[in-house]
Amino acid sequence: MPKRGVSLKKPKVIVNVFSSVDGRITTSPDRNVMEWTAAGIDGDANTITHRLYDDLDCDAMLSGSESLMVWGSHWVELEKPIYVPKKSKSYIVFDGRGRINWQQTKDLVVVTREDVPGSYIEQLREKKITYILAGRGNHIDIRLALHHLYEMGFRTIGLSGGGSINGAFLRAGVIDEISLVLAPLVIGGRTTPTTFDCEDLLSVEGAASLELLQSKPLGNKGAVWLHYRVGGKK
Ligand SMILES: NC(=O)c1ccc[n+]([C@@H]2O[C@H](COP(=O)([O-])OP(=O)(O)OC[C@H]3O[C@@H](n4cnc5c(N)ncnc54)[C@H](OP(=O)(O)O)[C@@H]3O)[C@@H](O)[C@H]2O)c1
Repeated sequence: MPKRGVSLKKPKVIVNVFSSVDGRITTSPDRNVMEWTAAGIDGDANTITHRLYDDLDCDAMLSGSESLMVWGSHWVELEKPIYVPKKSKSYIVFDGRGRINWQQTKDLVVVTREDVPGSYIEQLREKKITYILAGRGNHIDIRLALHHLYEMGFRTIGLSGGGSINGAFLRAGVIDEISLVLAPLVIGGRTTPTTFDCEDLLSVEGAASLELLQSKPLGNKGAVWLHYRVGGKK
C-alpha cells in the first residue's frame, strides 16, 4: 500500500479493441472472437488491431480473466497466426477471484486481490509468476493496481478487453485513449459482450466525451480505425 497522502500514479491506459460496427466484441457469450478471423470475414482487422499495440507504444497488454478462460475453453485454430506485438514486455491479467490454472507463464503478470484464497497465491509462487495484490472484497482496486504497475515500470498499457474489464476501467475513470477497429460486421444480440459492459449511467453527465485523434480505413474488407483521446470538450 502506498503511504497515506501519496498520490497514486498510473501508466497511460489505451483501450485497443476490435469490434463489430454495433460494438460487439465476439459472436455470442462464451465464444472466441478469433472465429471472425478464422472465417475470413474481418479483412485482417484482428491482426491489424494487434499491430496497433506497437504503433501506440504499448509496453504491456492487459486482459480480463473471462477472456482468458474463453480462449482456453473455445480455442480457434487460425491458418495464419495473429501478429504478436513486439514492444509489449508483459501480458497482464486481472484474475481477482483466482480462477485460472496457469499453463503459459512467460512474461505473465497476474493482478489479484489481497483476500484471494491462499491456494491461488501458492500456485503463483510455485509457477514463479510475477503477481500484484490490489484491494479486497468484490473486485480488484483498479487505481491501486495501476499504481503498482507504474511502480514496476510500465508506462503505456494496452487494455485488450473483454467488455467487463474495459467497462470497469471506464467507470473508474482511468482510460486515456481508445483505439477502436470496427470490423465490417453487424452481430446484434442482447447479452453478447460489447466494448464496454458496466452499470448503466444515471445521466449524460457521466458519459466519457472523446476527441478524435486519427481515423482511417484498415485492411481490405472495409474495416475502419478510430483513435480517440478521452476527455475531449463536451
Ligand atoms: N474483440 C476483441 O478485441 C476482444 C478482446 C478480448 C476479449 N474478447 C471477448 O470478450 C469476451 C469476454 O469478455 P467479458 O466481458 O465476459 O470478460 P472479461 O472482461 O475478459 O473479464 C471480466 C474481468 O473484469 C473484471 N472486473 C469486472 N468488474 C470489475 C470491477 N468493478 N473492478 C475491477 N475488475 C472488474 C473481472 O475481475 P475478476 O477476475 O476479479 O472477476 C475480470 O477480470 C470473450 O468472448 C472474448 O472472446 C474480445
